[in-house]
Amino acid sequence: MSLSRLDGRTALVTGSSRGIGRATAECLAAHGADVVLNGLGPAEELDGLAAAIARRHGVRCIAVPADMASPEAVGGLLKAAYRAMGRLDVLVCNAGILGDGRLGMLPAAEVDRVLAVNVAGTLHAIQTGARLMQRGGGGSIVTLASIVGRRGNAGQALYAASKAALIGLTLSAAKELGPLGIRVNAVAPGFIDTDMTAHLDAGLRERWLRDIALGRFGSAEDVARTVLFLAGDLSAYVTGQVLGVDGGMAM
Ligand SMILES: NC(=O)c1ccc[n+]([C@@H]2O[C@H](COP(=O)([O-])OP(=O)(O)OC[C@H]3O[C@@H](n4cnc5c(N)ncnc54)[C@H](OP(=O)(O)O)[C@@H]3O)[C@@H](O)[C@H]2O)c1
Repeated sequence: MSLSRLDGRTALVTGSSRGIGRATAECLAAHGADVVLNGLGPAEELDGLAAAIARRHGVRCIAVPADMASPEAVGGLLKAAYRAMGRLDVLVCNAGILGDGRLGMLPAAEVDRVLAVNVAGTLHAIQTGARLMQRGGGGSIVTLASIVGRRGNAGQALYAASKAALIGLTLSAAKELGPLGIRVNAVAPGFIDTDMTAHLDAGLRERWLRDIALGRFGSAEDVARTVLFLAGDLSAYVTGQVLGVDGGMAM
């Protein structure tokens, strides 16, 4: 069987109702994985998407809505996924939110929310996910960092801080979980065309584009294919890496 196939494995992708998470869920399912979707809801929409993915790719796909900002909800999500699928092999910690604003203009509640979703939510998912993966003898965890977590960006201090924290979390988890057969890597997307970047004005987009060696913004599928590589056996000896998916923006 091709090393890119994930038949017989179960993947949970947080924040997979749209954007990069949705493309990743679709890509992993297309390569044979049973998939658990997640988002804030509504449940009927997520259920509809799960049914469509299952039909398209002939895999099992279910949806478990949960707010990644709540430790209890994250624990419940991981356990519900494991109960339904009977195993967990791949965990993609993708759910994330922006918290744009100059340093002097960031309300405390916004700081708390961004760190709760992007950092604490990922940490809690890895805690429970790693315990469940151990039962199957190992697995692969992929976190969604960002180019701004490595390079910073004026007006994105909060978001950049959350993504830099994710990189530290990823590297530490890779060291701790490697001996248990669990690989942990991050992808660091550059500018990807999704709802998250849709609000940016034309001038700003133009400026970003000038910095991209490949001369185009990335697609959600560009990131999904990199996650696929890190999820499966093609990357069996890769852990503790932060892989840029940015068209040559960070060089
Ligand atoms: N787009 C980029 O240029 C870019 C660049 C670098 C890194 N990233 C990172 O890549 C990841 C995906 O980004 P994207 O562009 O696909 O974003 P997006 O289009 O805004 O989608 C975000 C996803 O996360 C989910 N989500 C948000 N808050 C959540 C919460 N509290 N609990 C559960 N799910 C939640 C959303 O679910 P709902 O639909 O229910 O709201 C949605 O599925 C994020 O971590 C982002 O920081 C993106």
